[in-house]
Amino acid sequence: MKVLTPLLSALPLALASHPPSYPHDHDHTVSHPQAACARFGKSFHAPNVQVNLVQYVVAGTNLSLEQGYNLSTCTRPSQVVPVDLCRLVMNVATSNRSGITLEAWLPTEWSGRFLSTGNGGLSGCIQYEDLAYTAGFGFATVGANNGHNGTSGLPFLNNSDVVADFAYRSVHTGVLIGKQITKAYYGQAHKKSYYLGCSTGGRQAFKEIQDFPGDFDGIVAGAPAVAFNNLSSWSGSFLLKTGTPNSPTFLTPAKWALVHGDILKQCDSLDGIADGILEDPELCPYRPENLLCPSSTPNVTTCLTSPQVQTVRKVFTDLYGSDGQIVFPRMNYGSEIPDSHIYYNGIPFSYTEDWYRYAIYNDPSWSAANLSLADFSYAHAKNPSNIETWEGDLSAFKNRGGKVIQYHGQADSIITSTNSPRYYNFVADTMSLPSSEMDSFYRFFRISGMDHCSGGVGAWGIGQNAAVLAGEEQTPQNNLLLRIVDWVENGQGPETVRGVKYINDTLSLGKDFERDHCKYPLRNTCVDPANYKQPAAWKVQGILLSIVVKLKELHFAAMSKVLRQTGCLGSS
Ligand SMILES: *[C@@H]1O[C@H](CO)[C@@H](O)[C@H](O)[C@H]1NC(C)=O
Ligand SMILES: *[C@@H]1O[C@H](CO)[C@@H](O)[C@H](O)[C@H]1NC(C)=O
Ligand SMILES: *[C@@H]1O[C@H](CO)[C@@H](O)[C@H](O)[C@H]1NC(C)=O
Ligand SMILES: *[C@@H]1O[C@H](CO)[C@@H](O)[C@H](O)[C@H]1NC(C)=O
Ligand SMILES: *[C@@H]1O[C@H](CO)[C@@H](O)[C@H](O)[C@H]1NC(C)=O
Ligand SMILES: *[C@@H]1O[C@H](CO)[C@@H](O)[C@H](O)[C@H]1NC(C)=O
Ligand SMILES: *[C@@H]1O[C@H](CO)[C@@H](O)[C@H](O)[C@H]1NC(C)=O
Ligand SMILES: *[C@@H]1O[C@H](CO)[C@@H](O)[C@H](O)[C@H]1NC(C)=O
Ligand SMILES: *[C@@H]1O[C@H](CO)[C@@H](O)[C@H](O)[C@H]1NC(C)=O
Repeated sequence: MKVLTPLLSALPLALASHPPSYPHDHDHTVSHPQAACARFGKSFHAPNVQVNLVQYVVAGTNLSLEQGYNLSTCTRPSQVVPVDLCRLVMNVATSNRSGITLEAWLPTEWSGRFLSTGNGGLSGCIQYEDLAYTAGFGFATVGANNGHNGTSGLPFLNNSDVVADFAYRSVHTGVLIGKQITKAYYGQAHKKSYYLGCSTGGRQAFKEIQDFPGDFDGIVAGAPAVAFNNLSSWSGSFLLKTGTPNSPTFLTPAKWALVHGDILKQCDSLDGIADGILEDPELCPYRPENLLCPSSTPNVTTCLTSPQVQTVRKVFTDLYGSDGQIVFPRMNYGSEIPDSHIYYNGIPFSYTEDWYRYAIYNDPSWSAANLSLADFSYAHAKNPSNIETWEGDLSAFKNRGGKVIQYHGQADSIITSTNSPRYYNFVADTMSLPSSEMDSFYRFFRISGMDHCSGGVGAWGIGQNAAVLAGEEQTPQNNLLLRIVDWVENGQGPETVRGVKYINDTLSLGKDFERDHCKYPLRNTCVDPANYKQPAAWKVQGILLSIVVKLKELHFAAMSKVLRQTGCLGSS
């Protein structure tokens, strides 16, 4: 995937257009920010906090992050800072054998809002790009290293405190201290508090909602790694299904490309247009048997052997444990090409191996090649620091007025998007809430053609990070971060989320197409194939669909207005 060059200097400050007046600006934070920053760094004291660096950074600075970080695994050597801000770097002890590194970025033009960023994978890495992105919108922003440095799970070994930081303590600690810092620096407390994260960052979001519901007013949670132990088991289970590259069950990347093409052939038109994007992969009744080699021509690249067909079936089948319960749902359709290099490559998946070695068994010699159902049960039962993050009662968050927007790429190659409706429905069941009540605090959007958190063939630019910020105006309509603010502060919850796709994911080549993504369980159907690149082509209309809509109206009389407005069709 090509990395887009964010035009950070063009970042609009739409939400910061009315900076607060700082009634308690005794320290001249606004009039002399540079001096105020230096003074603040020296004067700020809190228990367990050691300030290592205080630095006033002017807009446009290309910050070198070389000092002190494990660049070989965090791969963040530098970061361009979009606005003038005061930067604090701290170490915060979380026990006598663990601690976090915490950064606070305090924009001079403050919107009055606080925000925490999250982490990814098993890291261990401050997401500077997210600090820059959110500070650019005027948030007083924090980001932490999740209790260890680098992407390896090795620091978990024989240290349950480091695991506790990873499971819940890093983000929560960063929020408590970050809010304190914000108040002390600006002379007034934040008005609203937000969170933005994806993957492990999505799990951290739900951990906060479940265990620390007072921390945030608004949350954007992407591709959440919830049911974390089971996810780690499922991630390791592909090796058992594919076998190693020399086994008859193994498919080469070329064969997975063949499977991908066959999936599109069988299912791409179900949404009304064959554009390489499955709007709702759940609708696909995929049959890999269509690729079976005739018995006279075994194992050529244009077909699959019987053992290979069985491998494909297994990958797309839910994984069950020895207790007969589901461990994790099947892989989504659409991610076959990237997954031929991630899960289907015939070698152990490193996150699974690290999690089991260092957090579950404390045994560095454990091998994922020997993963079994007994391991699944053991990890599930051990559940260190309740990292599973699978609580269904979110009423404390709902009752305090919290809002969460969840999104998940429908072609996610790391965390199958089939797990997200499972969690959403688990919450609805646990709380006994109909859709309208769920809508009051929790909305879930399925982003067609999006890979893990970003990238992919779909219109995946939804303001989830800085990657697709173009010169064009960012609004709540096309930017999830602005949307969550609009929902929390103005009551405007999203019905759809507009995504953008740039030609070859390169801003300078211009916009390829835009699409409005649907709120679960609604789905998109194309009714004007000639203009499928326009969001308007996805309205529900035409004779056949009118009949469908009429039928739906019998069941969803109240919803039908929304259906016509958004182009999203009920899927039940
Ligand atoms: C920032 O500096 C690094 C080297 O430290 C360089 O590789 C990178 O291109 C610079 N970024 C910008 C946007 O200038
Ligand atoms: C992580 O790196 C920072 C910066 O060098 C350092 O201060 C901190 O002690 C490290 N944390 C751990 C747990 O090693
Ligand atoms: C950085 O990470 C690499 C790879 O995990 C490791 O070999 C190296 O020792 C680490 N360096 C530091 C300074 O922690
Ligand atoms: C850490 O604190 C615990 C009590 O909370 C104590 O039992 C343990 O000995 C301490 N460890 C070290 C290395 O100081
Ligand atoms: C981890 O702890 C166990 C039990 O206390 C001990 O046997 C083992 O040597 C430790 N491993 C490491 C790498 O410290
Ligand atoms: C199938 O063919 C590929 C090359 O086309 C080869 O690498 C692989 O080993 C063959 N598999 C079997 C089971 O014969
Ligand atoms: C995790 O897997 C175990 C079986 O190993 C199962 O009992 C449990 O319900 C699963 N949890 C979730 C959230 O899927
Ligand atoms: C682990 O699996 C490998 C091959 O997959 C096998 O050779 C080895 O005996 C297994 N080890 C254990 C402890 O079961
Ligand atoms: C986009 O990428 C493809 C494949 O790399 C290339 O063939 C095509 O020319 C590119 N399009 C543009 C407009 O650069």
